[in-house]
Amino acid sequence: MKYGYFDDQNREYVVTQPDTPLPWINYLGCQAYFGIISNTAGGYSFYRDARLRRITRYRYNNAPFDLGGRYIYVRDDNSGEFWSPSWQPTRRKLENYFCRHGMGYTTIGSQFGGIEASTRYFVPLDENLEIWQLTVTNRRQRAAELSIFSVIEFCLWDAQDDSTNFQRNFSIGEVEVEDGIIYHKTEYRERRNHFSFFACSEKIAGFDTQRDVFLGPYRGWDNPSVVEVGRSTNSVAHGWAPVGSHQIKLFLQPGESRQIVFLLGYQENPRDQKFDPPDSQVLNKKRAKCVVSRYLVPGKTDAAFEKLRLYWDELLSLCQVDTPDVHTNRMVNIWNAYQCMATFNMSRSASFYESGIGRGLGFRDSNQDLLGFVHMVPERARERILDLAATQLPTGGAYHQYQPLTKRGNNDVGSGFNDDPHWLIIGVGAYLKETGDWSILDEPVPYDNVPGSETPLYEHLQRSFRYTLDRLGPHGLPLIGRADWNDCLNLNCFSDSPGQSFQTTTNKDGTVAESVFIAGLFVLAGGELADITKHRGLEAEACLYLAEVTKMKATIRKHGWDGEWFLRAYDDFGRKVGSKENAEGKIFIETQGFCTLAGIGLDDGRAQRALESTRNLLATKHGIILQQPAYSKYYLELGEISSYPPGYKENAGIFCHNNPWVIIGETRVGNGDAAHDYYTRINPSAREEISDVHRCEPYVYAQMIAGRDACTHGEAKNSWLTGTAAWNYYAITQWILGIRTGYDGLVIAPVIPGNWRGFHATRKFRGVTYHIAVERAGNGNQVSLEVDGALIPGNVVPLPPEGTKSVAVKATLR
Ligand code: BGC
Ligand code: NOJ
Repeated sequence: MKYGYFDDQNREYVVTQPDTPLPWINYLGCQAYFGIISNTAGGYSFYRDARLRRITRYRYNNAPFDLGGRYIYVRDDNSGEFWSPSWQPTRRKLENYFCRHGMGYTTIGSQFGGIEASTRYFVPLDENLEIWQLTVTNRRQRAAELSIFSVIEFCLWDAQDDSTNFQRNFSIGEVEVEDGIIYHKTEYRERRNHFSFFACSEKIAGFDTQRDVFLGPYRGWDNPSVVEVGRSTNSVAHGWAPVGSHQIKLFLQPGESRQIVFLLGYQENPRDQKFDPPDSQVLNKKRAKCVVSRYLVPGKTDAAFEKLRLYWDELLSLCQVDTPDVHTNRMVNIWNAYQCMATFNMSRSASFYESGIGRGLGFRDSNQDLLGFVHMVPERARERILDLAATQLPTGGAYHQYQPLTKRGNNDVGSGFNDDPHWLIIGVGAYLKETGDWSILDEPVPYDNVPGSETPLYEHLQRSFRYTLDRLGPHGLPLIGRADWNDCLNLNCFSDSPGQSFQTTTNKDGTVAESVFIAGLFVLAGGELADITKHRGLEAEACLYLAEVTKMKATIRKHGWDGEWFLRAYDDFGRKVGSKENAEGKIFIETQGFCTLAGIGLDDGRAQRALESTRNLLATKHGIILQQPAYSKYYLELGEISSYPPGYKENAGIFCHNNPWVIIGETRVGNGDAAHDYYTRINPSAREEISDVHRCEPYVYAQMIAGRDACTHGEAKNSWLTGTAAWNYYAITQWILGIRTGYDGLVIAPVIPGNWRGFHATRKFRGVTYHIAVERAGNGNQVSLEVDGALIPGNVVPLPPEGTKSVAVKATLR
């Protein structure tokens, strides 16, 4: 069953029914001002940091699930009837409804009682504000007298404090209202120099800023008393819960249409210019008024929207493909790339499953996110790499997370996740291959943000590599620390008290439990570092890295292989995890995928064997399961993984993030059919037809799909913010389609399904547009390349001479 359809031409998903199984959302903003918006206008906005600068309030885990947002009410002033064009919060039955989620904007519209109303929400480029463009049309035969009410609820900035510290917060809310603009200035009197404003293009008939006056006692957003009565009260909030609401009266002749623009923005003032006059407590509104007057000029909002559209045209044009598979095309050309922007911006902080207060930007996550993002805005990737590296510790370890506003490591989570340092090498490698900007390696970057501790970025990579060598366990495999990629495999935790964090509780000294996964990651990162080192002309150093890599591969062969698949780990007792010797959790996906993608076992058949075991034991029609058999009970020595009921999350869920590792592994053994088949199983577009089972958005990946052991096998959860986005983008574009960035040029090495005759692609790489045509002339993956008509040896298109604009590549597969 479907709840809408893809409009590929306009790069939109059109939801045609408001009561989707879960809120189907979109992101607004892609620079500093952000919002999330559901298909019924639920959601919230923030500036840079979803925890520390929350602009509007949202209550998670509500009933209905998604309530609180950017709401508009339309009221027929003759009959007194009122409704929400976005269905929520009044949920009146609409004559028709649509929600178009597009690239950085969402338009929601409907018709009720012959009145059509639709709102386009977006954040213009280079501005700290959002625009709501409301168009109301009278489709009746007679004139209509209407009132429009807007409403948002302000958050008192720190979203964590806002939802817990009521004894203080009920007394601090402050607003000012001037010329129809509502200014929210809680805490501005003391240490804040920022505020928000909510403006409207029309002359207003009234406003409200006190929530409980707007709603009336014991009423909810579905039935506000002000809207029912039809008259704003001009309430001014002193404490309690500040809101912003305007009333606009409209008189529309039959067929007449009117547009109203609302602006919700964030503004900072220099500290010495906070008040106007300076010795008063009155907000200095000059800067905000200037922004408002710019955007409320007719035509300006359309121009801003057009600019946003062109921005996305440009970004998406960097990599466009035309393959025989519509789901591949749609995801690569539109939605997967778009999701990579969201994961780059948000990391795992703010979605409908991530509350924005739990996590900042993850070291491991954000480095991996670069794989799918770096080609889009390399300058921002560069800045991110330097920010991440600055949270690295002198030991080479890293803060697991940092807050985007302060860019400081998060002490609550701390460090000690022993895979973290290697992801920096992977992220930097991706950046260097994409851009060829070797200068980044010489950038001075501090450790733990301590001034004076700067070394070139290159040394950060050296320390990352060293980190593992300094922490090898009894078998010569890397010690796992608090956890590796799998945050829930907590082998040093041994927690038996409720409420302890599995990730930060450590009851063991950490000198025994080892991770085969980190060993695989070490091999991949070590190879990458050796390549980087060679490019710096340091041959001898590169050889040392390669020698360590060779040694680690041998250790994996000796102690990391279980006979038919790669082991997962050794626990604190030195016992195997992910072995046929275990009663449960015999085989894990992570090491099968990651070791093969790192090239381990390609030469001795173990890679093929591991992939076969994966197919036999872990693959389902909904994707590949994390491990089998699921843990049926809690194992003290394994931690959070065994805390989940079977089939969910890390306990045998289909953790979509590591499916692409197996996909890449399949391409490495030359199996294009298997690779694309796995790719399709979790491709959200290919799952659109079963939206009633999948339940999450059909246009973006979710973190997890319930595994075979779950009662709800096939049900997705935690959509949007997942490493799945970057890894799948990387897997399909660089490994299946095989258009791979290399240090010395673009590599063309497709491993596509046998029944594809070929495909076309356009890829912009280091300022040159490559027009690539791939044709199948035989059943294999052997490539011969013609570059601008000339046959060349190998599969790397050499970098063309300076000034070249485009290159034609023909690849024949035999
Ligand atoms: C989740 C993991 C996540 C971890 C850290 C766990 O509860 O299952 O997927 O990585 O928390 O936030
Ligand atoms: C989600 C976390 O964000 C990520 O860092 C981790 O690798 C996976 N869960 C697996 O536990």
